[in-house]
Amino acid sequence: MWKMNRICFLTFVTLLTTVALAELPGDDAYTYMGVATCAASQCHGSAVPRNGSNVLQNEYVTWTQDDPHSRAYQTLGSNRSKRIAARLGLKSATTAKMCLDCHADNVPAERRGERFHLSDGVGCESCHGGAENWLVTHYDVPNIAHAASVSAGMYRTENIEKRAALCLSCHLGTRDKFATHRMMAAGHPRLAFELDTFTELWRTAGRQAHYRVDADYRERKGAVSHSYTWAAGLLAEGRQRLQLINGPRFAANSLFPELSFYDCHACHRSMKTLQWRSLPRHGGAGPGAPFIHDGTLVMAMALARVISPTDGDAIEAGLTALHRASGKNVASIRMAAQELDTTLTSLQSRLSPKLLRGRELQLLREILATGAEGNYLDYISAEQAFMAVQMLVIELDDPFLEDQLDPIADTLNNDERYRPAQFAAILATVAEPEEKPANIDDERND
Ligand code: HEC
Ligand code: HEC
Ligand code: HEC
Ligand code: HEC
Repeated sequence: MWKMNRICFLTFVTLLTTVALAELPGDDAYTYMGVATCAASQCHGSAVPRNGSNVLQNEYVTWTQDDPHSRAYQTLGSNRSKRIAARLGLKSATTAKMCLDCHADNVPAERRGERFHLSDGVGCESCHGGAENWLVTHYDVPNIAHAASVSAGMYRTENIEKRAALCLSCHLGTRDKFATHRMMAAGHPRLAFELDTFTELWRTAGRQAHYRVDADYRERKGAVSHSYTWAAGLLAEGRQRLQLINGPRFAANSLFPELSFYDCHACHRSMKTLQWRSLPRHGGAGPGAPFIHDGTLVMAMALARVISPTDGDAIEAGLTALHRASGKNVASIRMAAQELDTTLTSLQSRLSPKLLRGRELQLLREILATGAEGNYLDYISAEQAFMAVQMLVIELDDPFLEDQLDPIADTLNNDERYRPAQFAAILATVAEPEEKPANIDDERND
């Protein structure tokens, strides 16, 4: 089963209308009715899962008791948030737009219904969309099809691409809301995300799962594999990151670009580990250069090497260009980011659940082999590699491999003490139990 291996942070529906539904919840024009409107016991507030219903109907209870999102607003009142706010010169985190935008359903006042409370944090409608026009109809199944609710404003969380955009809007950020390096230096945690791992961590965080993917669900909504969710999520994350680099978030009017787009550990790690080593994707940039955060892009490269090797080469060339550009100026970085985005777009347009079917072992081998060669020198790539390996091992359902997950996770326990040689060695033993581990050393400066 899914393990809470938290490293250090731990469709098929035809649209009835032609309305453009590209927006995220909150960007739409609907009134947000409030979590209380979903919580009646005959609706989603049942204490236990209901029999004879398509959906569990205890989602409200699961959400209040165990979903981290129900605590997102309370978090803004915590001592940690108070310190963050004080350091940023904010009056209070609980009233600051820059915090509420991700920690609550911060729709404008005129779109808050009578039972709406900001203190509900990230509530049902933050993900499922403003319920104004579907609240009183959506449960009348099968008379009201899911598609009809969708055209009345329900967000298509079951669609993997839509779900990726939704989760990433808070777990990576957008042009409009973003966790800056300034916030992190004031105490905000570093954000890390992988769509499949986070979906499963979140879905199974409670005593009851948020939803159940069973035969009935498959019939109503379809379901895709974990590996497809992972792959689609990677490409969505990578593209959003590259597009943000091309937007105003990356370079304001200051000496340095926004540092949260860089590999945190390029700057934040012990000066006693001399671990720098030239990797092909670094394009010859020498030691001492801060790198653009490329963990998801490195995984996208591994994905491409398996499903479309020419794209794998193109991603590597794109990453090389991006890292080379990092030493030049913002305009060059942006140009390289745009180019790489074009490659990811083309891969994304061809990605399908079918293309990935039966490729889990190949993907696992690719990631383990490139890891064994020492390509996950930086913590952020290693963390992404671990999440991918965990997902694939669970998909493959192989007890030998499952036993290897804890030791791999152990090497990632403390990001500032991460030893790339140790990580590479352990991936090498998993990949080829007989072979000698990778030839990289952790020279110590002491
Ligand atoms: C409106 C913003 C928002 C959206 C949308 C959102 N999240 Fe979150 N998520 C948060 C915040 C804020 C937290 C931290 C809550 C806290 O502890 O205060 C969080 C926490 C989490 C955690 C727990 C992380 C940890 O380290 O414990 C998981 C897992 C998670 N979210 C998964 C998801 C998934 C999967 C999606 C998409 C289906 C998603 N989130 C959509 C804002 C959001
Ligand atoms: C771009 C969206 C975003 C913005 C803006 C944002 N946060 Fe967060 N915050 C998150 C997410 C997502 C998490 C969960 C991270 C994880 O564990 O993976 C989080 C986690 C936290 C945590 C840690 C919670 C815990 O349980 O450990 C605190 C504290 C916090 N945020 C406070 C703030 C404050 C204060 C602000 C405003 C200065 C703010 N956040 C702005 C998205 C955001
Ligand atoms: C962090 C985002 C998020 C939050 C918050 C959230 N959901 Fe969900 N919900 C999802 C996702 C993702 C799915 C699975 C995909 C799907 O079937 O739409 C889902 C599935 C469901 C389902 C099952 C749908 C089915 O067809 O089987 C129900 C019912 C549901 N949510 C109700 C709620 C209610 C009620 C709340 C508030 C108490 C809530 N959700 C809060 C994201 C969220
Ligand atoms: C290019 C170098 C660089 C990168 C990349 C970078 N930082 Fe920083 N960071 C700094 C500097 C410089 C400071 C300020 C140190 C000080 O105030 O003494 C800082 C401060 C911090 C602090 C506060 C530390 C303290 O002792 O007060 C945290 C936390 C932090 N950064 C987190 C991050 C995270 C998370 C990332 C990646 C998303 C990141 N940094 C990326 C250079 C960097």
